[in-house]
Amino acid sequence: PVSPPPSWAAACGRPRPLTPLAMALARAASSAASAATVKKLIVKHVTVIGGGLMGAGIAQVAAATGHTVVLVDQTDEILKNSRKGIEDSLKRMTKKMFTDKPEAAAQFIEKTLKNLTVSTDPVAVVHSTDLVVEAIVENLQVKNDLFKRLDKFAPENTIFASNTSSLQITDIANSTTRQDRFGGLHFFNPVPLMKLVEVVKTPMTSQKTFESLMEFTKALGKNPISCKDTPGFVVNRLLVPYLMEAVRLYERGDASKEDIDVAMKLGAGYPMGPFELLDYVGLDTSKYIIDGWHSLEPNNPLFAPSPLLDKLVEERKMGKKTGEGFYKYK
Ligand code: NAI
Repeated sequence: PVSPPPSWAAACGRPRPLTPLAMALARAASSAASAATVKKLIVKHVTVIGGGLMGAGIAQVAAATGHTVVLVDQTDEILKNSRKGIEDSLKRMTKKMFTDKPEAAAQFIEKTLKNLTVSTDPVAVVHSTDLVVEAIVENLQVKNDLFKRLDKFAPENTIFASNTSSLQITDIANSTTRQDRFGGLHFFNPVPLMKLVEVVKTPMTSQKTFESLMEFTKALGKNPISCKDTPGFVVNRLLVPYLMEAVRLYERGDASKEDIDVAMKLGAGYPMGPFELLDYVGLDTSKYIIDGWHSLEPNNPLFAPSPLLDKLVEERKMGKKTGEGFYKYK
């Protein structure tokens, strides 16, 4: 219950009985106050599903910041590669973090890897998890199938989050019965280096869930921003149309991809050119994003697909991760 402010108490001498309207207002104020101080879930144990580019990075950062992590993917072979990638990344990072202190670096790596286990069976590992972060293929049906299954086996208070770049979080949350404990955690590539996380709140995400996700990203040493469940959230809504425009410029033969990259680095101060960035992100991921938005808004020229991007993906030239995209990496 709300206490009257001191000036009100002093003026009245003693509290007056509340009218029904005042009682309703008091109840609303009380529930707003408890929402503001809502007890957040402190995330300690995390299950990351998808051991690719993003999932491996998320698992690495979570393990390095003291969380226990289970990384899940489809095969042992993939998980072996994910673990190797994490080890290599930790070696590179600790070289910079602990210059001239190889023992401290080795200790940090050992501690981090101790926090990390792997599994090919998500259902078997979610029983004790505080948070599931999904970073699997960008396909609504596949994500929904996964979450629907996990919803049955994860504890009641477990929060689910998707790292989707282009799908609506609401559409994924609706495959579960825990829409209030579902949000978006949109990390950036490479996860260990990029500070930003977009924390996405759907109309159904509870304040507790939202605050718990904000707290978790801060515990990872990241800088979260809050955004609504709109296409591309903030960063990609601005970035993807720019990347597609670069591809169209190149497709028309107005400039070479090398020159476009140089132009944006030297003329706009961007750290990478658009083609370097597309290769880095993965051309398949970029294609899924633009195709999804195009189907939502077919008349929006900013969301028009590109025949060249489609062709490269069809040839399985996905960018850096497959050794070739707009550029060759072997
Ligand atoms: P990726 O292709 O590198 O990795 C996806 C991994 O998920 C693969 O290892 C695959 O074997 C695994 N997988 C697929 N279906 C699975 C299932 N049912 N169960 C378990 N594992 C499964 O893809 P990437 O780039 O890591 O993207 C993952 C998600 O993150 C996508 O939703 C994407 O939109 C999003 N994202 C990607 C960014 C990027 O820069 N690549 C940036 C931010 C978000």
